[in-house]
Amino acid sequence: TAQDGPMYEGKAKRVYKTDDDGIYMVSYKDDATAFNGQKRGTISGKGIVNNQMSNLFFQLLEQNGVPTHFVKELNERETLVRALTMLPVEVVIRNLAAGSMAARLGLEEGMPLSRPIVEYYYKRDDLGDPLVTVDHIEVLGMATPEDLAQVQRLALRVNEVLSETLRKVDVILVDFKLEFGKTKDGRIVLADEISPDTCRYWDANTKEKLDKDRFRRDLGGVEDAYAEMMRRVKEVTRL
Ligand code: C5P
Repeated sequence: TAQDGPMYEGKAKRVYKTDDDGIYMVSYKDDATAFNGQKRGTISGKGIVNNQMSNLFFQLLEQNGVPTHFVKELNERETLVRALTMLPVEVVIRNLAAGSMAARLGLEEGMPLSRPIVEYYYKRDDLGDPLVTVDHIEVLGMATPEDLAQVQRLALRVNEVLSETLRKVDVILVDFKLEFGKTKDGRIVLADEISPDTCRYWDANTKEKLDKDRFRRDLGGVEDAYAEMMRRVKEVTRL
């Protein structure tokens, strides 16, 4: 059972301690923010989609050799996860140029990349999560070279599994963000969430955006896009 108030409250989730030291409970909210908290809103039903989609993907990834924090879905919005010491980096994997990479480098959104690109961002709200290199991470002690090599290996494996899976339901996985943590015995484990908040999903036929860019860019149809992605992910993880 979850105890007291949240141990941590983020923009989209609360994390609670439980009576088991090794287990936390995550509760997903409908609150949405973008541009480092400058844009705020609510996406009705988002917490349910993000909880259920993350859990389906985590179970699929476990079956494909990627260790994850997933333990047990409790209800529509709440899940038990393994307690981890989080690495202070966000890992972004890109298959097509979009978003901040397209803007920074002056590329057209949707430009294909000859191989997936891995980027790292230092998790520091007060600095706006700056892009960092492998050297920054290693020299500043955000992660050891061994841990970072494992993070990169797992991130690319996640990309293979999810890209191939989503392709079967006519979704292009354009890019996405992952976070990793470490167990007491030193194993790197995939954590956080994998949802329309943290991925770019494009319909393979119409190129329609089915993710949080609809909220970020005021495109409308946000709830419908989340619901449509949930439907497709349920369909493909049943196959
Ligand atoms: O904004 P940018 O193009 O760098 O985002 C790359 C990917 O990482 C997108 O799929 C976006 O949803 C995700 N992301 C995220 N959390 C952040 C920054 C980016 O989930 N803080």
